[in-house]
Amino acid sequence: MSHVVVTGSEGFVGQALVQRLLADGLGGRPVTRLSLLDIRFAAPHADARVVQLAGSIADPDLRGRACMHPVDAVFHLASIPGGAAEKNYELGRDINLQATLGLLEDLREVRTAAGAAPRFVFASTIAVYGEHLPPEVNEATLPNPGLTYGAHKLAGEYLVADATRKGWCYGCSLRLPGVVARPVTGENSGAGMMSAFMSQLFWRLAAGEPIMVPVTPNGVAWWISVGACVDNLLHAATVDPARLNPRRSYQMPVLRLTVSELVDALCARHGEDRRALVTYAPDAFIQKLFASYPPLHTPEAEALGLRHDGDIATLIDRATAV
Ligand SMILES: NC(=O)c1ccc[n+]([C@@H]2O[C@H](COP(=O)([O-])OP(=O)(O)OC[C@H]3O[C@@H](n4cnc5c(N)ncnc54)[C@H](O)[C@@H]3O)[C@@H](O)[C@H]2O)c1
Repeated sequence: MSHVVVTGSEGFVGQALVQRLLADGLGGRPVTRLSLLDIRFAAPHADARVVQLAGSIADPDLRGRACMHPVDAVFHLASIPGGAAEKNYELGRDINLQATLGLLEDLREVRTAAGAAPRFVFASTIAVYGEHLPPEVNEATLPNPGLTYGAHKLAGEYLVADATRKGWCYGCSLRLPGVVARPVTGENSGAGMMSAFMSQLFWRLAAGEPIMVPVTPNGVAWWISVGACVDNLLHAATVDPARLNPRRSYQMPVLRLTVSELVDALCARHGEDRRALVTYAPDAFIQKLFASYPPLHTPEAEALGLRHDGDIATLIDRATAV
């Protein structure tokens, strides 16, 4: 028996995580109750184990209904994206910072059926590093967020570590890189996101449709498929907590690829004729934010069992598996 809570469950990563929890359970145990919290739900869920709670995570009553005792694990994915949080400071603060603290404080009252503190996995972000990156990023690189979104996510990491120290939960924050391949249509498409090209490359070239890429071909990004990302979230919720570092925070391992390396692999997969579909119209701001990443070394995360996709072919397979 296991009760799992997922916030932001209607999002791109949340939907994939929910599917996996229902199919495979958590840590070898079936999930018997899955409480989902999001602003709204596209449709009622067919699985009787699912409880959908529509509304804001800023609402303590709604959070209380989601975290109804006993709780084995909470995956906290609900968030206001970087651009939107930058435009609306109060909204970003309320959701990305204060609701994270509220949720952690809620867990003081909540235990597993066996009386243990629940596991808590927090989706942090590579935006904590900011734009002034050193020639190489590693696990000792000091974060220096360039956006309020990254600052609030970094504060969330500290709150997770502090809540763990206080015994409210066994927390772990994972810094997510660019997760692909978000659908190009529908509510979940993130169409307005400046990083949308990273996902659109996969879908457009598979469908034989043109794509305009707002960075140069030699622009370098950090990539992970949604499948590998979900593997890592599940691992963080089940690994022996005694093995977690004192910061309770890890950088997810990534594949570091240029856009042209990805285009080459997609053309090898779908046909050379796809190459002519890609045009480049670099935008200096987007290039700086999403395609100027130095090498990233994550031996500590890998020793814990966190993984990137391994190779570009697997990245493509897992990014587009539906
Ligand atoms: N996808 C990526 O590339 C990426 C990269 C870095 C970090 N992350 C982080 O990972 C997490 C999941 O990412 P995603 O791509 O699935 O994001 P997403 O934007 O697709 O999903 C976020 C979900 O949170 C929900 N949400 C927003 N405000 C809410 C509120 N007030 N109450 C309840 N729910 C609310 C949204 O409705 C949405 O369904 C987020 O925390 C994000 O910051 C994602």
